[in-house]
Amino acid sequence: MKLVAGNWKMFKGPAETVAFLDELEPPAGVEIVVCPAFASLAVAVGRGLPVYAQNVHWAEQGAFTGEVSAPMLRELGVEGAIVGHSERRQLFAETDETVRMRCAAALEAGLRVIVCVGETEAEREAGETDAVLRRQVAAIPQHDALVIAYEPVWAIGTGKTATPELAQQAHETIKELHDTRVLYGGSVKPENAAELLTQPAVDGALVGGASLEPESFAAICRAAT
Ligand code: PGA
Repeated sequence: MKLVAGNWKMFKGPAETVAFLDELEPPAGVEIVVCPAFASLAVAVGRGLPVYAQNVHWAEQGAFTGEVSAPMLRELGVEGAIVGHSERRQLFAETDETVRMRCAAALEAGLRVIVCVGETEAEREAGETDAVLRRQVAAIPQHDALVIAYEPVWAIGTGKTATPELAQQAHETIKELHDTRVLYGGSVKPENAAELLTQPAVDGALVGGASLEPESFAAICRAAT
C-alpha cells in the first residue's frame, strides 16, 4: 500500500486543522497521514488519521528552547514525525548528524519517521546528486518504522516536479543504499500524482502545498490507490 503524507508546514492553526479533517474524505487502499504544526497536533489526534509532527528533538527533555521531544509527542497521541526536511536543513542549520540523532530518538520512543533527503539545484547541476544522496542516506538508521522521502530541493514549492523517470532513478539509488520504502516529494499535485506514483520505486508521496486543501489532498490520495 502506498503512503501519502501531508506536510502542512507553518499553515493551519487548530481551528483550520479541525475543519480540514472534518471535510476530508480519505479513500481506502492508501495509508494517509497528516503532519500539522506543533500547535495543531493535539486537536488533530483522534480524528481518523494518523498524525505526525514536522520535527522532533533527540533529547527526552532538557534546556532546548523551542524544541519538542519524542515522549511529549507520544503523550499527545502523535504517531510519527518528519525529520530532516530541507527547510530544516537550509533555514535551521540541521546537519546529517542532527538528523541522525533525531531519527534515532524518535524511533527509540516508538514514533514512526519520514526522513527527507534530496539535492539542491546547484548540487544537481554540479553532478553531485548521487554523492549527496549517498552522504545523506548514510546517516539514516535502518528501521521498520522509518521511510525515506526523496525531495529534490529545487522541486519544493517551486512548481518544478522531477520527471517520473528522474524520481524513479533517484529512488533506485536510495533503495540500493537503504532497505526502505521511498516517498517522492516536491510539487506533487493532483495533476502529476498518478504518473509519479505509478513508478515502481515510488512508494508514496510527501505533499506540501497541495495537501492544504481537502479536495486536492484527497485527489492525490486517490491517485495512490
Ligand atoms: P511542496 O512541498 O509539495 O509544496 O513542493 C513538499 C515538501 O516540502 O514536503
